[in-house]
Amino acid sequence: MATYRKYKLTDNVYLLRLDDADTRFFEGIWPIPEGITYNAYIITTGEGSILIDGWKREFSSMFIEAIEEVTDLRDIRKIVIHHTEPDHTGSLDAVLRALGNVELLGTQFAKSMLEAFLGKSLPNFKPLKDGEKITLGDVELTFIHTPWLHWPDTAMTYYAEKKILFTCDAFGGYSIPRTVIDASEDIVNEYLPHARDYFANIVAKYSQHVIKAVDKLVSMGIDYKIVAPGHGLVWVNRPDIIVKSYLAWARGERFGGKFKVVIVYSSMYGNVEKMISSIVERLEGLDIELKVYKFTDKTHDNISDVLGDMLDADLIILGASTYEGALNPLMEKIVSSICSKFKGLRKRFIIVSSYGWAASADKELTRKLTDAGMEIIKNITYKGRPGRDLLEKASEDVVKVIRDIRGA
Ligand code: FEO
Repeated sequence: MATYRKYKLTDNVYLLRLDDADTRFFEGIWPIPEGITYNAYIITTGEGSILIDGWKREFSSMFIEAIEEVTDLRDIRKIVIHHTEPDHTGSLDAVLRALGNVELLGTQFAKSMLEAFLGKSLPNFKPLKDGEKITLGDVELTFIHTPWLHWPDTAMTYYAEKKILFTCDAFGGYSIPRTVIDASEDIVNEYLPHARDYFANIVAKYSQHVIKAVDKLVSMGIDYKIVAPGHGLVWVNRPDIIVKSYLAWARGERFGGKFKVVIVYSSMYGNVEKMISSIVERLEGLDIELKVYKFTDKTHDNISDVLGDMLDADLIILGASTYEGALNPLMEKIVSSICSKFKGLRKRFIIVSSYGWAASADKELTRKLTDAGMEIIKNITYKGRPGRDLLEKASEDVVKVIRDIRGA
């Protein structure tokens, strides 16, 4: 079910948040049982209003209803498009049909992509240069190009007088937070894992662009006090938390917390699971954060969470069964995502694999991860079911690897 909330951020800035509990797979790919929000904003001025971004197409009539709770639709003079992905622009078609010739503002990339998505030319779309001002009445905004957050078309807008930075996908997250702003530490702690999963699924491939964008904001002297993204919490009290978290994730690091080990494994008949269970039992006595995800004949865990937890792990243990003389296809899918999205982050891995007639899972995992620049610290490969001696030795070897990393 979808509902919306209207929230007054300042005397003339409003958030319109659609809480989408219906979408189960973001982009049709990533499982999000926690849901997602689409955040649009309205700035009212003495000479009409500026609309910033929008919602998904299926919520268009609700979007118009929400706008009209803040301002007469016909008072909208300008619409700022930060990013053309249809989770933010799907509702634009309905708005344009109702409004007619309103001025659209965005990057040149956004113009061509939006025309393709809407299937019509947009003569009222004015491409803005980096740093160009948007003015209406007594409001002045600065349009800042921040490409690849998360497409080449993306930008942010800074409202200097109110110190609000509108960021669209950047600094966003999955889930439908209980509040619209970062109202308490509990709310923030509840939300950050969802923001990290979103980062891992959607933004991580462009991590270097996150670092570049934050550097750019600093070099421009952008002194934001509020970070207003297109998804998730609006950061009013501690915007530094989400910015520092994004920077840590962009480097593949943790933002606080204990040394973190993530185990992800596939097991067809328990031969991989037996080894993983032995390692888990040994690691549970250590003062670390341990997360375990499995793909077996009983359970398939949530791949969005898998990637999110791997992103900021200090050590990843991948356990894979061999399937038809090759890498188990479920593990292949996960590893392809790692290699594509985490390329350049040089995550550390231990590989565990079992085989019947060819040690192909180990070989394929090693090749794929090495080609993507990952560090493989240890391979634990065996034929069939692991015996007691191997279980004990392998578990001790994993503990030694952790001690070596922590001591380095
Ligand atoms: Fe939230 Fe890249 O769209």
